[in-house]
Amino acid sequence: MATTLEMPVEKKDQLGNAKPVVIVFGGAGGIGSAICKALADGGMRVVVGYNTQAQGAEALVKSLSGEGHSARKAPVTDTAALAKLAEDIAQDYGRCDAIVNCAGTTRFVKHADLGSLDDELIDRILATNVRGAFATVRAFHSLLEKSPLVGGGVVVNLSSSAGNFAIGSNVMYCASKAALDNMTKSLGRALAPKVRVVSVAPALVDTEFVKSLDRDWRDAQAASTPMGRLATPEEIAAAVRAVITTLTFTTGSILQVDGGRTLGV
Ligand SMILES: NC(=O)c1ccc[n+]([C@@H]2O[C@H](COP(=O)([O-])OP(=O)(O)OC[C@H]3O[C@@H](n4cnc5c(N)ncnc54)[C@H](OP(=O)(O)O)[C@@H]3O)[C@@H](O)[C@H]2O)c1
Repeated sequence: MATTLEMPVEKKDQLGNAKPVVIVFGGAGGIGSAICKALADGGMRVVVGYNTQAQGAEALVKSLSGEGHSARKAPVTDTAALAKLAEDIAQDYGRCDAIVNCAGTTRFVKHADLGSLDDELIDRILATNVRGAFATVRAFHSLLEKSPLVGGGVVVNLSSSAGNFAIGSNVMYCASKAALDNMTKSLGRALAPKVRVVSVAPALVDTEFVKSLDRDWRDAQAASTPMGRLATPEEIAAAVRAVITTLTFTTGSILQVDGGRTLGV
């Protein structure tokens, strides 16, 4: 049986390269950058998709191990731009084996403060976290289904424990992650057997942004976690990498990477 990452020689792409290609949407963000590093360390060619952080994405590409990485503008709310990106990736790499939907947006609004959850914020959250994650799959599906990886092409959706237990930055953010998990199941069924779709669902992750928040609140989140601490971005990245390279018979699943947070304490 072929190993997961290195394909037999005859399966090299038109550019003569056997290294899988993965696009990380939101790749220059706190969790996205850890995912890009883990996938590059795992021997993949990484396309760092950014929306506004072009410089951050370019700097990240330079820091990655291995070769063949690039930074691309990848706004998940712009279907025409995603279609053009898919064409460019087909031309430049000849393949796309996995996409990671790590683009996401939110803002803290207390759940009981209905008036502050305005329509603009609701539309932005749903357009990015839900419609955007569908739009990337729609744009890259025909490339993904040609992937020769064992287990086929892969979509990894960065969901959240907020989708499961409805505690998170605001009501609509929680709803968006529940919708994303539901979509993981529909698409897992619809795209099998050529493409697998899996949600990776962290609770709070100790990114630089989270470190900048109120210390007491952060400590309380850690204390509410059976593992007694928050996840590191690297632990979430390890789960994403495992979904792509190791969990080759897993699809339509929600992988909780939350230190037991959704179990309660
Ligand atoms: N941090 C946590 O505790 C936590 C917990 C559970 C789940 N998550 C999920 O994990 C994912 C990453 O979170 P993070 O903490 O790393 O957040 P982050 O640092 O704010 O990164 C979010 C990323 O999303 C990108 N993005 C936003 N709108 C976009 C759009 N319209 N098109 C393309 N990209 C867009 C941003 O790109 P630019 O910067 O280039 O604009 C940024 O790279 C999100 O889906 C989030 O919901 C986070």
